[in-house]
Amino acid sequence: AADIEGDITRVLFTEEEIRSKLDEIAARVAADYEGKDVVLVGVLKGAIMVMADFSRALPVSYPMDWMAVSSYGTGTRSSGVVQIRKDLDTDLHDKHVLIVEDIIDSGLTLRWLLDNFASRGVASVEVFALFRKPDAAKVHVDCKYVGFDIPNDFVIGYGLDYAEKYRNLRDVAVLAPHVYA
Ligand code: PRP
Ligand code: MN
Ligand code: MG
Repeated sequence: AADIEGDITRVLFTEEEIRSKLDEIAARVAADYEGKDVVLVGVLKGAIMVMADFSRALPVSYPMDWMAVSSYGTGTRSSGVVQIRKDLDTDLHDKHVLIVEDIIDSGLTLRWLLDNFASRGVASVEVFALFRKPDAAKVHVDCKYVGFDIPNDFVIGYGLDYAEKYRNLRDVAVLAPHVYA
């Protein structure tokens, strides 16, 4: 179908529900990091929408940097092989890093990123993931800020893609099986 609606089975979270969760987490983060030298690190490409809205929900301005990593390619399952496609532009030495992610699925991407950051001399590193799938976890990831725990379905929208499509959907929805069957 040319229309996105034909490709989804149900909406999990609306744009409004996501926005109010981001407001809540932004308030927590601003309080937790008061007076600290924070850098937000977004994980391209999935985190673009979360970063755009979360950063604007914050009452303070933190520098942003981006890393591009990918483990999925065009399939629906993580390959487990994480590749850096674009590294950070800034030195994070002595910075309090908050990694901004759209979703923790198997946990492999963030596990790998956290190990990578540990070797950059940061003052601290924490994770904010808007979504997490507890039933899909293959490795444990310490995630201080979690938006929503969700079932183990393939979800799209709000930055989340299937084969690079659907990132522009404003809500987060379950992808209809006919799309990837
Ligand atoms: C997706 C998602 C997370 C990661 C989570 O990224 O945005 O970064 O997978 O999966 P995991 O916990 O099983 O590692 P993807 O590799 O699809 O790249 P993208 O952000 O460019 O879509
Ligand atoms: Mn991603
Ligand atoms: Mg993806």
